[in-house]
Amino acid sequence: MNNKISLILIFGMVLSSLAFYLSADETKFGYTGSEKCGMCHKKDADGNQLKIWKESDHAKAYETLKSEDADKLAGGKAVENENCLSCHATGYGSDASLNDAKFSHTEGVGCEACHGAGQGYKSLKVMKSREESVKNGLVVWENDEGISNMCLTCHAMDKKPEGHPHNEFDFAVQYPKVAHPNPNTAK
Ligand code: HEC
Ligand code: HEC
Ligand code: HEC
Ligand code: HEC
Repeated sequence: MNNKISLILIFGMVLSSLAFYLSADETKFGYTGSEKCGMCHKKDADGNQLKIWKESDHAKAYETLKSEDADKLAGGKAVENENCLSCHATGYGSDASLNDAKFSHTEGVGCEACHGAGQGYKSLKVMKSREESVKNGLVVWENDEGISNMCLTCHAMDKKPEGHPHNEFDFAVQYPKVAHPNPNTAK
């Protein structure tokens, strides 16, 4: 084979594997905000996920950081403490240029803290297909054990700072308090 041609071939291979690497590992999705998700997920007949979330403790997780107790625990301003914000907020420290202009981490533990950053999957066209949604950032779980492990990323005692309040996490007790199934989706 002519040297020039093989060089071009090798260069092409390097470029295409680089492109693959970038698309497979470097794709980052921005955050949308729970109100935006709620635009399509607030029908009572479909389980009104927005309302259930708003009435849950997750929606006030950021407010919790504004108390004197919280500041004491943080040894300073809890609302500025990265460690507290990693569990009491959504998308803290994410790339603002990818996020919706109105998105703010101050919404507490929002939809996307569990379901994944939604700028990529929130359109009706993508959402209608589970497969496309997953490709574009929607997180799904295989079974209750998978869901429980996701909860434990924030609810396990050993992840919380010392002296932090702790309710022993029992999936069978705590999950029904925040679950928001669609009664029309058989699962
Ligand atoms: C433009 C409307 C629209 C928006 C905005 C939207 N969704 Fe959806 N979503 C749908 C539709 C339609 C479905 C498919 C029917 C269903 O399961 O309700 C769906 C399905 C889902 C499912 C079920 C997926 C499955 O198969 O298990 C989840 C979870 C979900 N959406 C979360 C979100 C989150 C989180 C956001 C915000 C980041 C969001 N949606 C924004 C319309 C929307
Ligand atoms: C991103 C972190 C995070 C994830 C993930 C998370 N939680 Fe929470 N959860 C919190 C925080 C923070 C609070 C405290 C909210 C407050 O009162 O300020 C909380 C409070 C709760 C409460 C009320 C207090 C209690 O312990 O009974 C329940 C119930 C709960 N979560 C259930 C769940 C379940 C079930 C899952 C998984 C499906 C889950 N959470 C996933 C952070 C998280
Ligand atoms: C690993 C996740 C995690 C981290 C980090 C974390 N929290 Fe929490 N926090 C929770 C969860 C989950 C709850 C709900 C209670 C429970 O389930 O134990 C909670 C509850 C609380 C509560 C009690 C809320 C209530 O309504 O009774 C306060 C106060 C609090 N956190 C403050 C803080 C402060 C301040 C920081 C930082 C110093 C912090 N948390 C860091 C997960 C976390
Ligand atoms: C604490 C984590 C958490 C938060 C916060 C959360 N979800 Fe979910 N959501 C889940 C889990 C877990 C499921 C069940 C998935 C399954 O069964 O496979 C679920 C299921 C759903 C479904 C599918 C219901 C069905 O039965 O088909 C929709 C739609 C949905 N969530 C939308 C939302 C929206 C919108 C918000 C915010 C307003 C939100 N979720 C907030 C964890 C969460």
